[in-house]
Amino acid sequence: MTETSKSNQNITTIVSQLNGRSIVLIGLMGAGKTTIGRRLAKKLKLPFADADTEIEKAAGKTVPEIFEEHGEQYFRDGERRVIERLLSEQPRVLATGGGAYMSEETRKTIADKGISIWLKADFELLMKRVRKRSNRPLLKTDDPEAVMRELIAERYPVYGNSNIMVESKDVPHDQIVIACIETLADHLRQQETARA
Ligand code: S3P
Repeated sequence: MTETSKSNQNITTIVSQLNGRSIVLIGLMGAGKTTIGRRLAKKLKLPFADADTEIEKAAGKTVPEIFEEHGEQYFRDGERRVIERLLSEQPRVLATGGGAYMSEETRKTIADKGISIWLKADFELLMKRVRKRSNRPLLKTDDPEAVMRELIAERYPVYGNSNIMVESKDVPHDQIVIACIETLADHLRQQETARA
């Protein structure tokens, strides 16, 4: 079998084994959730949504504006509601904001309605990526590197509850997408075997 037909077969099997569940990408700011999520969705022929974009649409404001005008807690409440809605509508690939998975309620929603993939990146790569944009309220401080280190310490143990972990490295995005597909295929196969 050629690599392409093997990969196509993998994709058909994955979509059927998802059985109506979504794929939910979690991980820190700069891990590549949106970029990888969009490409993964295209490969799996599933719709894609980005939770931050949907929160912005619902609020009619950007994420920095929401933080500035209403505070973080208000943003978190909106984030929880939007993710609940997006995962109840239809199966899709969903990229979440870095803090979303820290909510116990959201973790439960994701576990009920999806398969979670943690895109794990190291500190240097995260910083390299987030430095390119200034749209992250949590990093608008004198020492964004210290904040990032704190977030890694605080969040990585919680992200560890995800179904799957894929390392997000500084390589072409398609390689990470392939790693997601292969790891997902293994995970679903194991689930299927465990159920049988
Ligand atoms: C946040 C991450 C951001 C956005 C908000 C808060 C966080 O999303 O939701 O700025 O708490 O880590 P990205 O992870 O997509 O940058």
